[in-house]
Amino acid sequence: MNILIVGGGGREHAIAAALKKSPKVEKLYCAPGNGGISALAECFPVKATDIDGIVELAKKLRPDYVFVAPDDPLVMGMVDKLNAEGFKTFGPCANAAILEGSKAFSKGLMKKYGIPTAAYETFTDEEKAVEYIKKQNSYPAVIKADGLALGKGVIIAKDFDEAKAAVHSMLVDGKFGKSGSEIVVEEFMDGNEVTVLAFTDGKTVKPMVSSMDHKRANDGDEGLNTGGMGTVAPNPLYTPEIAAECMEKIFKPTIAAMNAEGRPFKGCLYFGLMLTKNGAKVVEYNCRFGDPETQVVLPLLETDLVDIMEAVWDERLDALDIKWSRNSCACVVMASGGYPEKYETGKEISGLDENGQCPDAYIYHAGTKLENGKYITSGGRVLGVTCTGETLEKALDSAYKAVDNISFEKAHYRKDIGARALGKR
Ligand code: AMP
Ligand code: GLY
Repeated sequence: MNILIVGGGGREHAIAAALKKSPKVEKLYCAPGNGGISALAECFPVKATDIDGIVELAKKLRPDYVFVAPDDPLVMGMVDKLNAEGFKTFGPCANAAILEGSKAFSKGLMKKYGIPTAAYETFTDEEKAVEYIKKQNSYPAVIKADGLALGKGVIIAKDFDEAKAAVHSMLVDGKFGKSGSEIVVEEFMDGNEVTVLAFTDGKTVKPMVSSMDHKRANDGDEGLNTGGMGTVAPNPLYTPEIAAECMEKIFKPTIAAMNAEGRPFKGCLYFGLMLTKNGAKVVEYNCRFGDPETQVVLPLLETDLVDIMEAVWDERLDALDIKWSRNSCACVVMASGGYPEKYETGKEISGLDENGQCPDAYIYHAGTKLENGKYITSGGRVLGVTCTGETLEKALDSAYKAVDNISFEKAHYRKDIGARALGKR
């Protein structure tokens, strides 16, 4: 089987590595891919958001499946276009990807079907939004752009002035462009966050091992929100009792709600959950694998990912027993200094071998390119240094040892990945 993966970050590297393990896979292709992915897949310089370009590439390569990994092409309808051309795919159609593409849609769905989430209102008018915030008089207040904003469209305002400024920046100054022309103002939820990725064929939902992301740039969960600075799996705070509650109150009802709306979801559904004192609530849905959650979840998958992909496409996921390792996995992201704001690229990375790997760890490349046999930084998040271990402590210890052996100018990484999960904070 030949598979084309769309995307070019650490998540796609992890997906490529998992697919490569399958005895069914002959050849992997990736567009656009990156330096690290090129050791596993033939890469083509077509942007993941170039729908027509990807369709043309698929027509040329004739892959058995196209695995569409990032949010933008899914929301833009890449899967629909590929299916119309006769290609089998992994990933939801646009009418289901809207679960991530519009927060106003997802909040409305949860309200209509009684799925637990923060109380909210949506606004397109500045004055009305400010009036609502004043009336709620509850801080911090959470202000979100409706559409996709690279995980940065959420402002947690600590007082009225900050909230007012956030509303103005989105609705009037157009900080997030069209994505922020409608906003969601919602109640702040206190608690620990858990990510649960789930395979679904639109009928059955099979949650994967849970994980925890670290979204802030600096130690102690300080600094700006990023795409994610590290992850651990499983998340020790997500107990079997909580998992059972989420299955009944969140996972199954979401799949049923999407079907009731005529929007069956096929692919990987990402549940961002907050464990509040009043139970688990949905922070957000994503229509795809998380990044860098995938980097710690897929190494624990023992079932062939190709078998799962086929079962999702054929809608027979109920008959498949998906097995997971009992080990833990940790990923420490090494980023360019300055990320998520301005950063420099083009730095040579030392400590990697000719395949972009290093001993005793798996290095998922997020922002690298290969030039004259050397790995060079080319993005904000550069590497996801990943290790499994019998315990989370062991996995973290190995990952940080590997980090010590890799360097590039102004490399930045968090030193406290996993600390909250282990109750050390
Ligand atoms: P989102 O893009 O909706 O996932 O939001 C990004 C991050 O903002 C989440 O992972 C949370 O850490 C935080 N966040 C979003 N909504 C809330 C909320 N209602 N209460 C507390 N934190 C939130
Ligand atoms: N790690 C968060 C995300 O993938 O959106």
